[in-house]
Amino acid sequence: MHPELRSRLLAACGPGHLLDDPDLRASYETDWTRRFTGPAAFVARPPDTAGVAAVVAACREFGVPLVPQGGNTGLVGGSIPRAGEAVLSLRRLDRIEDFDPVAGEVTAGAGVTLQALQEFVRPHGWDVGVDLASRASATIGGMVATNAGGVRVIRYGPMRHQVIGIEAVLADGAILARLPGLLKDNSGYDLPGLLAGSEGTLAVVTRVRLRLIPARPARAVALLGLPSLAAALELLRAVRRQAPGLEAAEVFFPEGLELVQRHAGLPPPFPRPHACYLLVECAGAHDPAPALAAALESAADPDAALLAVSRPERDRLWAYRERHTEAISAEGIPHKLDVTLPAARLGDFESLVRARLAETSPHVRPVLFGHAGDGNLHVNILGADPDDESPDDAVLRLVASLGGSISAEHGIGIAKKRWLNLTRSPADIQAMRAIKRALDPAGILNPGVIFDLEPPPVVSS
Ligand code: MLT
Ligand code: ZN
Repeated sequence: MHPELRSRLLAACGPGHLLDDPDLRASYETDWTRRFTGPAAFVARPPDTAGVAAVVAACREFGVPLVPQGGNTGLVGGSIPRAGEAVLSLRRLDRIEDFDPVAGEVTAGAGVTLQALQEFVRPHGWDVGVDLASRASATIGGMVATNAGGVRVIRYGPMRHQVIGIEAVLADGAILARLPGLLKDNSGYDLPGLLAGSEGTLAVVTRVRLRLIPARPARAVALLGLPSLAAALELLRAVRRQAPGLEAAEVFFPEGLELVQRHAGLPPPFPRPHACYLLVECAGAHDPAPALAAALESAADPDAALLAVSRPERDRLWAYRERHTEAISAEGIPHKLDVTLPAARLGDFESLVRARLAETSPHVRPVLFGHAGDGNLHVNILGADPDDESPDDAVLRLVASLGGSISAEHGIGIAKKRWLNLTRSPADIQAMRAIKRALDPAGILNPGVIFDLEPPPVVSS
């Protein structure tokens, strides 16, 4: 490293926070799935926004590309170095500030974990609109940068919908600050909206002002065994109409349940297996259990229906769904695809994708689960070589042919950029490239994520 770059980085980060020892860098160089890994030139851990700006400015001057990283819970290789970039870790920006208990707004540093924010606001009667299983590690900055989804999108939308202000460092080190917390602000382009989901390619998110949701203390969770995904979706339609405050509608299948039982040591939920499992949660100010039970009554087999109201019982049912990610990873290194389908095609997609994979990649094991209420299925593929993209290709082409999107919530990262043109038009991609060039002309922020600046070889649609 050039001595001047080192001294500027040390001044920005403070002693002990510029890591170039391979042992200290290691946990920043491999993602959660273990599929994406690469050496970092160094890891810079600045303490605050000014430090981030100083790191970005120095790296731009010395031509060192940067990969911004939060809790490193991404699943598409978008926050892992690929070709010796430096990692810019935001984890030390972990302050929660300016909580407004009347308006229900709070400002969180990029490195605040979702769980820390939940624990901070819940005693005051507020909650965070997005929730996901990796809450203990996922950071607010990373969740905004990737527009994280999670299990409550059906009610509150993804992370972008919670954002009412943002502070971010641009590629030249300038600080963009839109933190006024105004619910209505039509004074020009929606920059927070643009940065949410830009995967660290346009700016480095340093602080976020979030709109909170009222905490809903009365909750009921139901887990149901059903004969097919079509039956689960049919039942879900009834629940949506009849049960108040539907907050989550998740599905999983026998292959995932078997992994969860084996790796997490959970007992089977029902006396006999079922082809599809639907988990729904309703929440409100008053006990939603009676209305939920009534909505399920006609369709549910009493031997395949569990209703939970107390916190431990609800957590027990949620574990069957939430422990899928770790159980799949315990079984091998998965290819993680994360697709949305138009609601009317979701049922067909489940059987079509299994058939397509059996035909094109008979050696792989698909494990499906996801957010049925959002039309979002996670297609996890076990048994494929990390570099063998043929199963991914088969799945994503099928998704495109059914009018879906190749990424519902995990983003494009590097894992899916080859297929971007399947579901984004040439005009879309050209506009995104133009924005990238305008905001980061030197290409130092997360280069090669979402798309390459020079048009890459595309797959035929
Ligand atoms: C989930 O829904 O649990 C997350 O998207 C993580 C995953 O897909 O493994
Ligand atoms: Zn998900």
